[in-house]
Amino acid sequence: MPTRLGAVAPATAPATAPALTPVLSPARLARTARSFAARPDLWRPRVRFGAEERWHARLEQTPEYEVWLLTWLPGQGTEIHDHGGASGAFTVVEGVLTERSFRLGPPAAHARELREGAVRSFGPRYVHEVGNRGTVPAVSVHAYAPVLATMSYYRETAGGRIALDRTDPVED
Ligand SMILES: [Fe+2]
Repeated sequence: MPTRLGAVAPATAPATAPALTPVLSPARLARTARSFAARPDLWRPRVRFGAEERWHARLEQTPEYEVWLLTWLPGQGTEIHDHGGASGAFTVVEGVLTERSFRLGPPAAHARELREGAVRSFGPRYVHEVGNRGTVPAVSVHAYAPVLATMSYYRETAGGRIALDRTDPVED
């Protein structure tokens, strides 16, 4: 039986294209982080503190988003980083965190203190660092969409700007 070429899809277009996963908005991720935070039964049993390295644990992963628990002993904090194009949100569930967010032109940094219940959400190009500058441990819940694949790290330069340092894959 002859093939009806007109009915054959071009080789570059699969008959069943994978559905595009919609990327959740920062506002939606903030609601996700808040709803996890409101359920201590989901995160409190996972809380650990690491003196050598900050403790983190993935609480949930779906095709659309993931939720992480992070803990922070006094003095612990992140480097300046982005989220590899993912949007995100986080909320403090214990203690106090300080966030500095960055933009590409000077003045580069803006610092804010985040107490229990505070929520921050951000789009895919956001650059920040988060740390515990207080005297008691802190715990936070973070949501990202899509699932984190890479993160880039930056250093502050003398001119009050930030410069890309490296990009690393995100592992559990
Ligand atoms: Fe972050």
